[in-house]
Amino acid sequence: MLILAVETSCDETAFALHDGRALVSHSIFSQTVHTLYDGVVPELAARNHLQRLLPLLKECLRLGQATKQDITHIAYTMGPGLITALMTGAAFARCLAYGLGVPALGIHHLEGHLLSPLLAKEKPSFPYLALLVSGGHTQLQLVEGIGQYVLHGETLDDAAGEAFDKVGTLLGLDYPAGSRLEQLARRGNPQTYSLTVPMQHSGDYNFSFSGLKTQVSRQVARAKTAQQKADLAAAFQETMAKSLLGKTFALAERLNITNIVLVGGVSANQYLRQQMMQRAAAKKVFFPPLEYCTDNAAMIALAAVHRIAAGKRDSLTIRAQARLSIPA
Ligand code: KG4
Ligand code: ZN
Repeated sequence: MLILAVETSCDETAFALHDGRALVSHSIFSQTVHTLYDGVVPELAARNHLQRLLPLLKECLRLGQATKQDITHIAYTMGPGLITALMTGAAFARCLAYGLGVPALGIHHLEGHLLSPLLAKEKPSFPYLALLVSGGHTQLQLVEGIGQYVLHGETLDDAAGEAFDKVGTLLGLDYPAGSRLEQLARRGNPQTYSLTVPMQHSGDYNFSFSGLKTQVSRQVARAKTAQQKADLAAAFQETMAKSLLGKTFALAERLNITNIVLVGGVSANQYLRQQMMQRAAAKKVFFPPLEYCTDNAAMIALAAVHRIAAGKRDSLTIRAQARLSIPA
């Protein structure tokens, strides 16, 4: 078995090869063109994917010392994501599968993130509670097994990564600002600013970050020096962590779940990881390896391995949907 996975849901073009037991190789290209526009421009993302798909496939095959003829299955991200971007990967994958005479399988992007901690050496066992924090989603999902996900909470407005990006832009950082904000916050003192933790007493497991963004935007005018900006970044990051982790651990307690995972692009954040480990106490916390936190095809390949093993098949339709629920 050799599965080729393709990921093009947003601004990363990525391929991975998986032999059913281990990841063989993976390649990724992160688009930079969007920095000029302070956000992803869907049409430019699609054009960039088209330019990169073939050369990147060649690179992934070379790294995996494989040829196209060795491929037995093709997996691709069918959604959710930017429809223009999804279409390029979905059409590419389906056409390649047709040409090679192998089956193709559409994979849900969030299922990839939810299973990504299984790419690490230290793997969580089912059931585990996932705090999924990406540029497009913020969710608390109970992962009971492959295809068995129970949504317990989500954001009512901005996603966590989106909040990092927008606050970073307010602080004058380039898009995508999430990891840049984390670097800035390392030099800051979070105690200098007092920000209210959103939705703390809402009595549910939902999140909201647009109010926090407004709180920062009110303070930004007063943060003139580099130190003040770093302090504000640190205060924002600390407040985000309190909001995210407060709900996560409360839910884990209520569900009596021991294994907790942090996934999605924001799981690359070292401060959030440290806070999670500090709070863990009797719980066990797991993370994907750093290179599989932000969008990648290794997690899509892994989800495909599990789906194929479970006997899941797909129709011949080219599937690409901007909004999509995770199939059972
Ligand atoms: O999972 P991902 O690559 O794409 C989506 O599925 O949305 O997540 C990207 C998001 C961006 O908003 C990015 O700023 C954020 O993850 N991100 C971070 C860090 N690295 C990436 N946010 C905070 N700290 C980081 N170190
Ligand atoms: Zn993602």
